[in-house]
Amino acid sequence: MKIDRRRLEQTIEELSRLGETANGGLTRLALSDDDRRARDRVVEWMRTASLAVRVDRMGNIFGERAGTAPLPSVMMGSHLDSVPTGGRYDGQLGVLCALEAIRTLDDHRVRTRHPVTLVVFTNEEGARFQPAELASGVMAGKIPLEDAYNARDKDGVRLVDELERIGYLGPEPCAARPLRAYLELHIEQGPLLEEAGCSVGVVEGIVAISWSRVRIHGTQDHAGPTPMRTRHDALVAAADIVAGVRRMAKEIIGGDMVGTVGNLTVSPNIVNAIPGTVTLSIDVRDPSDATLDRALPMIERVVQDACEREGVRWELQHYWRVPYTPFDPLVVDTIERAARTAGARSRRLRSGAGHDAQYMATLGPAGMVFVPSRGGRSHCEEEFTPLDDIEYGANTLLLAAAELARGE
Ligand code: GLV
Ligand code: MN
Ligand code: MN
Repeated sequence: MKIDRRRLEQTIEELSRLGETANGGLTRLALSDDDRRARDRVVEWMRTASLAVRVDRMGNIFGERAGTAPLPSVMMGSHLDSVPTGGRYDGQLGVLCALEAIRTLDDHRVRTRHPVTLVVFTNEEGARFQPAELASGVMAGKIPLEDAYNARDKDGVRLVDELERIGYLGPEPCAARPLRAYLELHIEQGPLLEEAGCSVGVVEGIVAISWSRVRIHGTQDHAGPTPMRTRHDALVAAADIVAGVRRMAKEIIGGDMVGTVGNLTVSPNIVNAIPGTVTLSIDVRDPSDATLDRALPMIERVVQDACEREGVRWELQHYWRVPYTPFDPLVVDTIERAARTAGARSRRLRSGAGHDAQYMATLGPAGMVFVPSRGGRSHCEEEFTPLDDIEYGANTLLLAAAELARGE
């Protein structure tokens, strides 16, 4: 049994037009009009494949292909939202390969004992509403529904209002569902598979992630008459924090730790005023929870030192944490076997990016299939995965899902 490469290619091409950027990337922020259009298209495809479509209170979409027995589902899927000027693979590829796997089961009239369900998660990226993986987090009971509803984008718009506006505030409870297994295909977003000449990555686990927010209160004043000696510049303290986070990750802790300040909001953000307030994000990740635990007090120290040097006030909040997530050994083995049967060269690896599979792994056995990212690049318009590798990945997903859905 093999997926239909041309059909998959056409489906990817078609969906990639929704939110397409001038350089062939994708800007499809969660719950935007382009996200709605992409959702509508996928729901249409689900219905054409005779899947029973349901939407929950977080806007997660489920398309169920019935099994022959009332058993827990094998779920497959990913997300349709993207980062701004992102690529056309992160997220939607996992949804479309899962759809192609289901279409292939239909082509071959395969009956499975367990239902097979295609899932689309809301707001995986955390680009518009924080934190990331918000809707799978609610589903797993790790994030209260109220907190998710009240998450606001940079313009102050609430997530729940956008869900309603685009017509995806569904009636179903956003809660754990009986789960035989959860499988997610995704691009690697790192260089290992390409370097090893492998088409498929068998993911053993996902690093621990922590997100923090710092608000710095300096003194807004005129850029001309204010002498350097009297200034309290929020952006100078922020710059010091940027450098400090990098030093901590790279030199003080080192190893596999990574640390990023990716978002700065500067006020009033004009040429001739000393910045009065700055908000910045800190993202730190490591395979070891203990190392991440060690990093948080160091971040506090970096922030305190930088702000005291500049004579500014600050607030620091560690608002999101996901522990290291090992995937289920039996699912990992099943994926590895499926890759071999599909004729793919594969290797095992760990994910440095977060995925909804992290929260799904708290609800049942989970695993991920990676396909290579050219140059290791992602979260950018240059994101690219060759179709040959996508085909191997999709066949691996199909065979793993079929095996897990067939058994008791
Ligand atoms: C999701 O893309 C993440 O790893 O932050
Ligand atoms: Mn993703
Ligand atoms: Mn992403």
